[in-house]
Amino acid sequence: MKNMLEPTAENVLAGNNLYNSTAKPIPCIICHGIKSDGIGLIFQRIKPYPRNFTCYQTMKDISDGQLFWIIRNGSHGTQMLGFTKLDDKQIWQLILYIRSATD
Ligand code: HEC
Repeated sequence: MKNMLEPTAENVLAGNNLYNSTAKPIPCIICHGIKSDGIGLIFQRIKPYPRNFTCYQTMKDISDGQLFWIIRNGSHGTQMLGFTKLDDKQIWQLILYIRSATD
């Protein structure tokens, strides 16, 4: 799977809005943190810890298709929930935003 969107300012900004406030039921920032480094408000209570999207070593081996699948379906046995209400475009915008945070 490849991202159908270009990393334009508009798309990255839309991903930013979803990440920080509008994604339902819980915006990503609560767990993944303000800097996308996995240090969200409640990270200490979550095992395994939320992913650190700023870590190049972690992110370089994760394909767009895998990111897409996890955001839509969640990661079984962890606190990463499936965001079933987001449409495809919104998920790709989130992925652009997440990738923009990688060092
Ligand atoms: C309730 C806490 C929580 C929320 C809210 C949350 N996540 Fe996660 N997320 C996690 C945890 C914990 C993991 C680690 C799961 C694992 O180790 O397999 C994770 C993993 C992921 C991964 C997996 C990366 C990989 O290794 O394949 C992606 C992508 C992701 N989150 C994106 C998001 C996005 C985008 C949002 C918002 C739409 C979001 N998450 C909201 C807790 C959360």
